Amino acid sequence: MMKNIHSYWAFIVLAVLIFAVVNAIIGLLKKKEFTHKDFRLGLFALILTHIQLLIGLAVYIVGSWYSFLSDMKNSATRLLALEHPLMMIIAIVLITMGWSKHKKQVKSESKFKSFAIFYGLALVIILSRIPWSNWLV
Ligand code: HEM
Repeated sequence: MMKNIHSYWAFIVLAVLIFAVVNAIIGLLKKKEFTHKDFRLGLFALILTHIQLLIGLAVYIVGSWYSFLSDMKNSATRLLALEHPLMMIIAIVLITMGWSKHKKQVKSESKFKSFAIFYGLALVIILSRIPWSNWLV
C-alpha cells in the first residue's frame, strides 16, 4: 500500500522538480524577474519531496529493509536497502538548502541560481538512484 503511494508520488515529485529546475534555468538565462509564481513552484517542489521522504521512510520501516543490509554484495538489494534511501535523503537536504538560500537573497538572478544549482543537483542524484527496473514494470 505505502509502496504504491511511494511509487505514484514519485511521478508527481519528478514532474514538478523537473519543471522547477527548467523554470530556474530559463529565468536565469533570460534574466527574468523572480515572481510569486517562481516562489510557489519552488515551495511546491520542496513540500512534495518532503512528503516523499516521509512515505519513503514508512516503506523502508514496514518493508524491514534492514535485513537486506547483510546482503551488500547484491547490487539490486544494495540499491533498495542503502543507496536509494541514503542518496534521496542527501538530495532532499540539497533541496532544503536551495530553498533557504533563495530566501536570503534579494536579486532575482541569485534566487534563480540557487534553485538551478541546488534543485538541479538534487534532480541528478534522484534520477541516478531511482530503481528504474522496479518502477517501470
Ligand atoms: C525524492 C525522493 C524519492 C523518490 C523520487 C523515490 C522514488 C522511488 C521509486 C520510483 C521507487 C520504485 C517504486 C516501485 O518499485 O514501483 C522507490 C522505491 C523505494 N524507495 Fe524511494 N524515493 C524517494 C525517497 C525515498 C526515501 C527517502 C526512502 C527511505 C528512507 C525511500 C525508500 C524506498 C524503498 C525502501 C523502496 C523499495 C520499495 C520496494 O521495492 O519494496 N525512498 N522509490
